Amino acid sequence: MAAFATILFLLIAAANLSFSSCFQISNYVGCTEREKQALLRFKQDLIDPSNRLASWVDHQDCCKWAGVVCNNETGYVSELHLKNPPLDDFSSEVKYKAYEMSKLGGQLNPALLSLKSLIYLDLGDNNFVGNSIPEFLGSMVSLRYLNLSVSGFQGKVPHQLGNLSNLQYLDLQANQLHVENLQWLSGLSFLEYLDLSIINLSAATDWLQVKSPAAMRMKESFEVPYHSQKRLKHPVPQGTINTGSCFYFC
Ligand SMILES: *[C@@H]1O[C@H](CO)[C@@H](O)[C@H](O)[C@H]1NC(C)=O
Ligand SMILES: *[C@@H]1O[C@H](CO)[C@@H](O)[C@H](O)[C@H]1NC(C)=O
Ligand SMILES: *[C@@H]1O[C@H](CO)[C@@H](O)[C@H](O)[C@H]1NC(C)=O
Ligand SMILES: *[C@@H]1O[C@H](CO)[C@@H](O)[C@H](O)[C@H]1NC(C)=O
Repeated sequence: MAAFATILFLLIAAANLSFSSCFQISNYVGCTEREKQALLRFKQDLIDPSNRLASWVDHQDCCKWAGVVCNNETGYVSELHLKNPPLDDFSSEVKYKAYEMSKLGGQLNPALLSLKSLIYLDLGDNNFVGNSIPEFLGSMVSLRYLNLSVSGFQGKVPHQLGNLSNLQYLDLQANQLHVENLQWLSGLSFLEYLDLSIINLSAATDWLQVKSPAAMRMKESFEVPYHSQKRLKHPVPQGTINTGSCFYFC
């Protein structure tokens, strides 16, 4: 009887042990098949001359791919860091060539829309020459950070970006872009940082009617002299003033 009790006890202990180790494993959820397939479709339309996205292959957990960050509780993709790594040595021709080679190009596939929890999208310093900013980005309403700077985008800034109601950072600087108006900024009530420098704002005659906190800060910033920009708490106006869009705007 005692032996039986001991065996029973051991069995229960073993069951407990395997239960708890199972439980620990299940803490890490990894990426969902649906989001992985969406990212693979997104990759298909990109041109990646230096194979920066070599880790983006079907048999791997997409949360471990280069540039992909997942929410560790849900497994949903929350961040895409696809900025071209910065050039650290401008004097080296070899490094410069490697830098140019590692720019992503091609098209932005709307498969990105499947990433419903994406809060951070950085496509900066790439080579999307010939593309306009796709309107579908305006439907990625979970985004809080969107950086499309210095990436060769052309054409009109789509007013659909004004639907990104959770956006806190928007950086479109230094593209061949123009705006028809800035009314769409009114939809961005959480915006803390806006950089529209070195894009053509000459048609933005509606500036003073835009009602958004970011626009208000930018307006204020036009009343303070150039050098006092640094004292402003929010970085919103800095790029706009400092990097020369006054050429277009003022
Ligand atoms: C999830 O990630 C956050 C930071 O990104 C970290 O603080 C937290 O400990 C992680 N949780 C688990 C269960 O790994
Ligand atoms: C966007 O990317 C550019 C280029 O990499 C960088 O200089 C800039 O600081 C980024 N903007 C924000 C808001 O992080
Ligand atoms: C997106 O914005 C446009 C106007 O900029 C508006 O007509 C449309 O209804 C918005 N869509 C959503 C889903 O909010
Ligand atoms: C800026 O855009 C306006 C139209 O909005 C256009 O007339 C003008 O030529 C553009 N300026 C430059 C420098 O491209």
